[in-house]
Amino acid sequence: MYENLVVVDHPLVADYITKIRDKETNTNDFRKYVDKLSLMLAYECGKELLVRKKAIETPLTKCTGKYICQDIILVPVLRAGLGLVNGFTNIFPDAVISHMGIYRNEENLLPVKYYFRFPRENTPKNSIVFILDPMLATGGSAECTISEIKKLGMKKIVLASLVSAPEGVKELRKLHKDVKVYTCALDNKLNEFGYIVPGLGDAGDRLFGT
Ligand code: PRP
Ligand code: URA
Repeated sequence: MYENLVVVDHPLVADYITKIRDKETNTNDFRKYVDKLSLMLAYECGKELLVRKKAIETPLTKCTGKYICQDIILVPVLRAGLGLVNGFTNIFPDAVISHMGIYRNEENLLPVKYYFRFPRENTPKNSIVFILDPMLATGGSAECTISEIKKLGMKKIVLASLVSAPEGVKELRKLHKDVKVYTCALDNKLNEFGYIVPGLGDAGDRLFGT
C-alpha cells in the first residue's frame, strides 16, 4: 500500500461504488449514489480535522469536550467534483467553497486550467483544504490543483476521490507526499486512453448526462 493513502473500507461504500461502476446505472441514479458516497467520504475525511479541548457543563456535571478548531475549505474540481459538494457541505456545513476548473487535454492527458477562485485573501493558513474530485487518473489535475493551493500558503491539504488509479497515487506520492489521499476504491490501472480500469467511465459525463 502507499504512504498517506486511505482506501475507505466499508460495505456501504463498496455497494455504492459497485452501483456507480455499473454501465446500466442511469444519470439520475448515478448522481444519487455519488451523493451518498460523498457523505461517507466526507465523514472519513473528517478524521483529519484538528480539535481542541473545551470545558463544558452537562446537566449533571462539568466535563471536557472537544470542538473543531480550524476553518474548512472545499475545492471541487470542475466539473465532476461538483458531485461531491453536497455530501461534504452536509457533514461540514460551515465550509467555505472554492472552485478549480480543469479539464484534461484528450490528446496528451495534460491538465488545462481555466478557472481558479479561492475564497478570501485572509484565509487562515491553518485551515484544512479538501480537494474534491471523484477521479484520480494520471494525477495531473490533482497535482495542478494542489500546486495552486500551496502557492497561497495553505499547509494542510487532503484529496478526496471516489476511484483512484495506482499511476495517479504514485505521481502524487512523488510530488506531494504531504497531501493525504482518501479514496473509496484503488483500481488496477489506466488504459491507453488514460481511463481508469475497471473505473466507471467519464465521471463528468455520467454525472451531468453529457
Ligand atoms: C476528469 C476527472 C478529473 C480528471 C482526472 O476530469 O473529473 O478531474 O479527469 O484525470 P487526471 O488524474 O488524469 O488528471 P475531465 O478532464 O474529464 O473534466 P470534466 O470533469 O470537466 O469532464
Ligand atoms: N477521468 C474520468 O472521468 N474517468 C477516468 O477514468 C479517468 C479520468
